[in-house]
Amino acid sequence: MIICSKLADFERAMCQLPKDCEIGFVPTMGALHNGHVSLVKKALKRTKYVIVSIFVNPTQFNNPMDLEKYPRTLEEDCNKLEQAGAYLVFAPGTHEIYPDTHSKQFDLGGLDKYGEGPSRPGHFNGVAQVVTRLFDIVKPTFAVFGQKDFQQLAIIKHLVQSLGYNTQIVTGNTVREKDGLAMSSRNMLLTKEQREAAPLIYKTLRKASAMAAQNLCSPNELCKWVIEQIDSNPLLETEYAQILDGSSLVLATSWQGHKELQLCVAVNAKPVRLIDNIKIK
Ligand code: PAJ
Repeated sequence: MIICSKLADFERAMCQLPKDCEIGFVPTMGALHNGHVSLVKKALKRTKYVIVSIFVNPTQFNNPMDLEKYPRTLEEDCNKLEQAGAYLVFAPGTHEIYPDTHSKQFDLGGLDKYGEGPSRPGHFNGVAQVVTRLFDIVKPTFAVFGQKDFQQLAIIKHLVQSLGYNTQIVTGNTVREKDGLAMSSRNMLLTKEQREAAPLIYKTLRKASAMAAQNLCSPNELCKWVIEQIDSNPLLETEYAQILDGSSLVLATSWQGHKELQLCVAVNAKPVRLIDNIKIK
């Protein structure tokens, strides 16, 4: 497996690839777990040229403490990726990705109006900034993103279409721990007690999904119930529970008029913030 931290080395390595080969790309911020590895394996089903980037992107952190505390485990990450069969790891420094300080503004098509958008101002613009920069560098045939970050995935699909990128966006299912907790690089920052409490999040989402199928209450009532359930544990505090339209990501106030619906939550197990979602229609 090739490991590059400099843009020039990366470009040299890419020149060695066979002409017209398919390039699969998995962008990450490192501290890799089996969720990330599953995306790499999905990409490897299609091509052996799977590039993984590891870059803790400062422009998508709206909280400096969160950026500082973000786990960095490059050596372990490279071992996992080598074992998984990745072709190349690109782990650039900040100046390679952001050679100048101009911050670009992206049209996110209003997809950041709910969910993570209001809670993390500037977050998705930062994601758009780094993903478009990485796509310009890697020029992937396809890129794999996880359903765990449902809103991020929708925004990236929108960007690819509106900016005319020739990259196919592929979705990877959310990989969970045995107890249902969605794998996340942030899980390692939870205390033992918080870790024991956290599976309540997905347990509640699953119950809510079953309740939605029975049509017994409104979307708003269901979200209130979700918050009550999760917050019944004193170690968890729900920041939001929202039911969003699967394509426009607007807030659903009725079960009708939506082809697909996704129940999305953000939960604080202070200072760690966990997000999860489930398809309910
Ligand atoms: P990061 O949180 O490292 O996630 C990298 C990719 O792994 C994303 O596509 C994310 O959705 C996916 N992922 C995370 N947890 C997962 C899980 N439990 N199961 C399946 N996939 C999972 O998302 C980012 O980094 C950044 O925003 C990035 C896109 C790299 C831009 O900086």
